[in-house]
Amino acid sequence: PGATLRLVLRVNGKAVDTMVDPRTSLLDLLREQLHLTGAKKGCDHGQCGACTVHLDGRRVASCLTLAAKAQDRRVLTIEGLAPPGGALHPMQQAFIDHDALQCGYCTPGQVMAAVSCVREGHVTDAAQIREYMSGNICRCGAYTGIVAAIQDAATRMREG
Ligand code: FES
Ligand code: FES
Repeated sequence: PGATLRLVLRVNGKAVDTMVDPRTSLLDLLREQLHLTGAKKGCDHGQCGACTVHLDGRRVASCLTLAAKAQDRRVLTIEGLAPPGGALHPMQQAFIDHDALQCGYCTPGQVMAAVSCVREGHVTDAAQIREYMSGNICRCGAYTGIVAAIQDAATRMREG
């Protein structure tokens, strides 16, 4: 046991070359080794969505994904979502504009899932958005704002 696996990947555009225990989750790699604590450990069992990140552009629950699966691939976390230069990503701005967060614990995962929701085209109506986002639990019940934010951001992302 121990850090016996050499792992090479890109995280938020930066090359990472590190040693991990083969059983390490992508979430633990991000949080504990790379100190990217945006993705949250809510349940650690794939049931809350707080740990959602993108792997090669697709959303994944990083608690259920082995770090080894990211070998030679691209990981994007909430820390890397905004474009360089200080502006927020349109989805982040829309979450603020629509009060789509309260305590904020679920928010990084919600935002990353929401970006995938738009990119994959599941934004025809509120019901479709809710269905796509159903794996992202918000204990504060900010769902109305979240759906409104996604609808708004879908327009902004199309224009942008
Ligand atoms: Fe991964 Fe809950 S922490 S789904
Ligand atoms: Fe508190 Fe969603 S804003 S859990």
